[in-house]
Amino acid sequence: MSKIKDLTLSGTPMSYEYAVDDDFAKHFRSLHQVFMYITDRCNLGCEQCIYKPSISHFINEEIVLDDALALLRTFHRLGARKVTFLGGEPTLYGHCQHGKPLLDLIDGTARIGYEYIRLDTNGQKTSFFLRKPQFSKLNELAFSLDGFSPGTNDPLRGRGTFDRVVDNIRLAIELGYRVTITCCAQKVLLTRDEDRVLLIERMIRFAEEIGAHQINFHDLFKVGTPMDTWTGSFAPEASEWLPVYDELSNKIAQKEFSISVRLPQCFIRKSEFDLNPEYYGYCPVKLGERVMVHPNGVIRICSNLICTGFGVARYHHGRIIWDYSNNNETAGHDLERNTPCTNRSRHRKYGDLVPLCFSFKPGQEEFVWYEKLHWETKRDYLTVDACIV
Ligand SMILES: C[S@@+](CC[C@H](N)C(=O)[O-])C[C@H]1O[C@@H](n2cnc3c(N)ncnc32)[C@H](O)[C@@H]1O
Ligand code: SF4
Repeated sequence: MSKIKDLTLSGTPMSYEYAVDDDFAKHFRSLHQVFMYITDRCNLGCEQCIYKPSISHFINEEIVLDDALALLRTFHRLGARKVTFLGGEPTLYGHCQHGKPLLDLIDGTARIGYEYIRLDTNGQKTSFFLRKPQFSKLNELAFSLDGFSPGTNDPLRGRGTFDRVVDNIRLAIELGYRVTITCCAQKVLLTRDEDRVLLIERMIRFAEEIGAHQINFHDLFKVGTPMDTWTGSFAPEASEWLPVYDELSNKIAQKEFSISVRLPQCFIRKSEFDLNPEYYGYCPVKLGERVMVHPNGVIRICSNLICTGFGVARYHHGRIIWDYSNNNETAGHDLERNTPCTNRSRHRKYGDLVPLCFSFKPGQEEFVWYEKLHWETKRDYLTVDACIV
């Protein structure tokens, strides 16, 4: 068990770290990234929001700055090199002190030595930060936008949100930020316009035209987990997604888009999965490559389990403690076997299809997938072998 180096928060916080349980360190021996939900506050109430139950409770609403940095130092020591700040809305972090804690957090994270710092924002208040030198230490500023017009975006994110976020995206690009757009693949984007163009393709074209570096799609499927009950009615069916995925991934492969497109595959035929389980069985829980840290002291891995009682550990009073109860999200899972996503297939069946991790986005340009895991190298390895056999 490691030692807490210095408990004096106000004096020399640079040396303060959390003590870590051996079982935690063992599970996260390949830790690469941290998703830090720094605040439970939000100025929007998006219909599909995965985080909705935490936002409405307003308890333990922020991770105290010194604790956030101490946790980041600890995870850095365990191997993490990328961090994503989110929430809630991270630009509201430390709002009583006019955003200073957020700037200090970004600055402190860079000083710890993180190589890639990302912030996910709804883009409503971002202009306040864009000219601050500490903010410009971000390696990626990811704006959430769920459509290419007020008519496609605002039903999910609220009236007026499209215009405000687009103004801030333009300003951020003008100021030299590496801007990406995160877009939920809602049902309407899988339909076509009068020219038979998929609306999701129009979304990609919109991101290209505005000058974003990348567009990253999130899926919204109902998957049989508790969050199905609070994520609204914008979820497509698997049968609607598959032809769209095929059409778009072909265009991506043909390099028809000038920006990077991260597209979740979501489902695959079982027979194809079985040809290359090492590749398709990508699972952050089994890999122990990420932690998701929440203001209420919970550390978990799988975002399917956000706002549930499941997690892997808790942080409290300078210690990170492995959860030995059945609430540990790894309990009951075979961590040694490459399988389809077990969290998404326990209660829902999809015929001859099986669900993949929703972070499984073939060929994606993403720091951990590419530079740390080299995941694409697993792509055809077993398929080729299987064909030969
Ligand atoms: C929870 S938000 C937090 C950061 C910030 N408030 C924002 O909206 O960007 C992080 C990302 O998750 C996405 N998201 C919200 N609910 C989701 C859901 N049910 N499934 C997939 N992604 C979701 C949001 O659209 C956003 O891009
Ligand atoms: S802005 Fe982000 S955190 Fe807030 S409700 Fe929307 S998705 Fe959720």
